[in-house]
Amino acid sequence: MILIKLGGSVITDKSQYRTFNKERVARLCSEIKESGHKALIVHGAGSFGHVLSKRHGIQNGYVSEEQIPAVAEVQYDVRDLSLMVVREMLNVGIPAVSVPPGSCFVLDDGKLVASDTEAIERLADAGVMPVLFGDVLMDRVKGFGICSGDTFMEKLAELFDIQKTVFVSDVDGLFTADPKTDGNAELIEVVDKNVLENIKSKSDIDDVTGGIRFKMEAMLRMSTADRDCVLVNGTVAGRLGALLKGETVISTTAKGGIK
Ligand code: IPE
Repeated sequence: MILIKLGGSVITDKSQYRTFNKERVARLCSEIKESGHKALIVHGAGSFGHVLSKRHGIQNGYVSEEQIPAVAEVQYDVRDLSLMVVREMLNVGIPAVSVPPGSCFVLDDGKLVASDTEAIERLADAGVMPVLFGDVLMDRVKGFGICSGDTFMEKLAELFDIQKTVFVSDVDGLFTADPKTDGNAELIEVVDKNVLENIKSKSDIDDVTGGIRFKMEAMLRMSTADRDCVLVNGTVAGRLGALLKGETVISTTAKGGIK
């Protein structure tokens, strides 16, 4: 089984509140279906999660009563997004069900507590793919917080027999510098622990879960001796499909773990 995260930057316009990219999600779902692989999907929140979360400081936990309506609004928005993603999966013939993490998991001082995963495991075993996503979770210490889809990727990689993990983003991979502003920026095709330490990275859009460096760290943690973790650009038609079919495509591969 292949584990894929559809990043919020690919499935939404991250700069504008609640803008879903239906055509792109439909295309990516077709590419996954046509690859013939069984895939477990996680998706990001994009502008359905980050905009309001940032405005109300949801990622910092409880500070004031004023945040409470936003906790509910953000959960509403990301569920809404997830149903739209799942609709596109169903349309191409991938049986899937949206599983809202905020209703099944909690955080303990920012750390995911995922003790009861039976429903998720039984869904996948039956071939009905559980779709998890970045969400607002209640926190035993801080009241509430944000849990990124990347964290669920790590959890699912522990629970299931995963051959390959793929992060679908809006960039070609990890670069030596920001390719948008630096003409000398070069794509780094393979990242290991040493390479990551030498890269300074910043996210240029409002992102409450840490941007590309956090993603690379999560990717390295998820890579093992026999399981690579690949970052690929989903805004380019056909690239995810080609990668899933085993072709060599422009991408960055995390190898060898983080220890
Ligand atoms: C963020 O999830 C969740 C919320 C802001 C509620 P992700 O970190 O997985 O989302 P993207 O991929 O960056 O949009």
